[in-house]
Amino acid sequence: MYVISGVTGHTGKVAAETLLSRGESVRVVVRDAAQGAAFAARGAEVAVADLGDADALARAFAGAKGAYVLLPPNLAAPDVFAWQAGLLAAFRSAAEAAALPHLVFLSSIGASQPSGTGPIVGVHRGEQVLRGLSRTRATFLRPGYFHENVAGSLGTLAEGKFVTFFPPDFPLPSAATRDIGALVATLLLEGPTEDGAVVELGSPVTPNETADAIGRITGRRPALVALPATEQAATLRGLGVPPPVAALFQEMTTAFIDGHIAWEPGRRHVASQTSIEEVLRGLLSQPRPSQAQS
Ligand SMILES: NC(=O)c1ccc[n+]([C@@H]2O[C@H](COP(=O)([O-])OP(=O)(O)OC[C@H]3O[C@@H](n4cnc5c(N)ncnc54)[C@H](OP(=O)(O)O)[C@@H]3O)[C@@H](O)[C@H]2O)c1
Repeated sequence: MYVISGVTGHTGKVAAETLLSRGESVRVVVRDAAQGAAFAARGAEVAVADLGDADALARAFAGAKGAYVLLPPNLAAPDVFAWQAGLLAAFRSAAEAAALPHLVFLSSIGASQPSGTGPIVGVHRGEQVLRGLSRTRATFLRPGYFHENVAGSLGTLAEGKFVTFFPPDFPLPSAATRDIGALVATLLLEGPTEDGAVVELGSPVTPNETADAIGRITGRRPALVALPATEQAATLRGLGVPPPVAALFQEMTTAFIDGHIAWEPGRRHVASQTSIEEVLRGLLSQPRPSQAQS
């Protein structure tokens, strides 16, 4: 049996659905039992636990062959790294208490760097906390920049513009969340290898390629507006993003551009299966917020 958290979100939902479709036993972790109803209808067990509650999480992990955990986004936290530290302590304690054999943790490209990577510092610290457990071997899944982040930049399409803070031909290492969820299922089924194993996922996508894809879908290629990365924090603040978070995003963008955030040579690397165009087709068929982000 495999335990999957984040099943109302992008990656956990796909991981749980993939395992269930392969006939595997799954226990989903949700904050409210009603969130697990659709999975229960497909035969999954439902465990109610906050990811910061070590005791509830240990009960959720009991008897499992492996579990998937992530650090959910939390723009409201006054100190996001302190909030994440609480979750990481709970993951560690729960894995030990439940003698969980295998923990798959959603990390990120750039997680080998201790600083200068914006929000990715959080998953760097996660990898440090989650390795070296006595009864659990950890696998760190490091995807690239989510294709789905483009959702924040679709609001200006009505003005015929696609706004980015990356240079027009910058090959941004990128991955679709559905590929991440599918790889989570694969890694859980493979079982643990060495503790602290790293698996990377992604392929390059440039802003020009994204604008081309939008043009193919909508019949109107937007003008690409590539703003300097140094303007990102101010732009995000203007859109209501808390200043510390805006600063972290600018630091991350700058670190991608200068190569501080990059794939690590010699790591197991899986290429993207899902294109930016496939993800955009889904996003552009939904109502969208009128704001630019990435
Ligand atoms: N964006 C990127 O480019 C990028 C790149 C690399 C890695 N990452 C990592 O990917 C993460 C996001 O993954 P995702 O897109 O799959 O997440 P997501 O779609 O935002 O979903 C977050 C999930 O976590 C659950 N959750 C939130 N707080 C919880 C809590 N306290 N206890 C239990 N469950 C909780 C949510 O459930 P509810 O319905 O209860 O809220 C939801 O199911 C980021 O936080 C980052 O660590 C992101």
